[in-house]
Amino acid sequence: MTELLKITNLVKNYHDGPDSEDIIHGLNLTLNQGDFLSVLGPSGCGKTTLIRCIAGFEEYEGTIEVEGKKVTEPGTNRIMVFQNYEQLFPWKTVEKNVQYPLKINGIRDKEERKRISDEYLDLVGLKKYARFYPHQLSGGMKQRVAITKSLALKPQLILMDEPFAALDAITRNHLQREMIRIKEKTDATVIFITHNIQEAITLGSRIVLMSRHGGKLRIDMQNPIPKPVTPASPGYGEVWDRFNDALQEDVG
Ligand SMILES: Nc1ncnc2c1ncn2[C@@H]1O[C@H](COP(=O)(O)OP(=O)(O)O)[C@@H](O)[C@H]1O
Ligand SMILES: [Mg+2]
Repeated sequence: MTELLKITNLVKNYHDGPDSEDIIHGLNLTLNQGDFLSVLGPSGCGKTTLIRCIAGFEEYEGTIEVEGKKVTEPGTNRIMVFQNYEQLFPWKTVEKNVQYPLKINGIRDKEERKRISDEYLDLVGLKKYARFYPHQLSGGMKQRVAITKSLALKPQLILMDEPFAALDAITRNHLQREMIRIKEKTDATVIFITHNIQEAITLGSRIVLMSRHGGKLRIDMQNPIPKPVTPASPGYGEVWDRFNDALQEDVG
């Protein structure tokens, strides 16, 4: 297995006051190519902070390396997908929304951009909505366009920050299944933040739990349940209980 991401002794402090504490204090994490890492943790424990550091949006101490190269700034090999799906340009069609990042990242040939957006819209089942505008789409579809935008850049690492948290339960389940399908087709490496234990177990090949303070990993396990995971899968209850108990204990 090829190691894609290596985080060594990561320390992050926003230095927003004289006594400001480290949000992340000495985190170590390695991730292999093709992993789907679900990250759970109490609200405010530093999940977003962690992936913002990986994305290159934050200064940090320690090292974060992607394919052996230290992260010092944002790059198209690491793309973030946010929770808020209002991350599309309302005045651009779906296909133009997907093509725009390609354009600003150096794909000058219009035909080539069109070919790529067609390919990825087809992959996520949105080809027939290519000429629609965001306001004509449901929340779930908008989030799929946002995911398509990221995939089209062929990043090595997709960083997803609670991408389905704002969606209703049915749409969310649908997008979870969609995500598994996309993952199988593209073999992308994904870090997926969620506060939903079910989602973490359904999607992750590996699941970690961050501690409330200091951003350490309290649990780090390979997901023992074969895909497709459902709450009726053997072993599901044990894994769910383990994360739920740990979250309940870490209240201080
Ligand atoms: N830009 C910032 N400046 C100062 N403090 C911040 C900033 N962003 C986040 N924090 C603080 O860092 C902690 C972790 O936040 P965050 O990474 O958003 O947690 P999570 O995503 O796990 O809910 C919180 O206490 C939050 O208030
Ligand atoms: Mg967050």
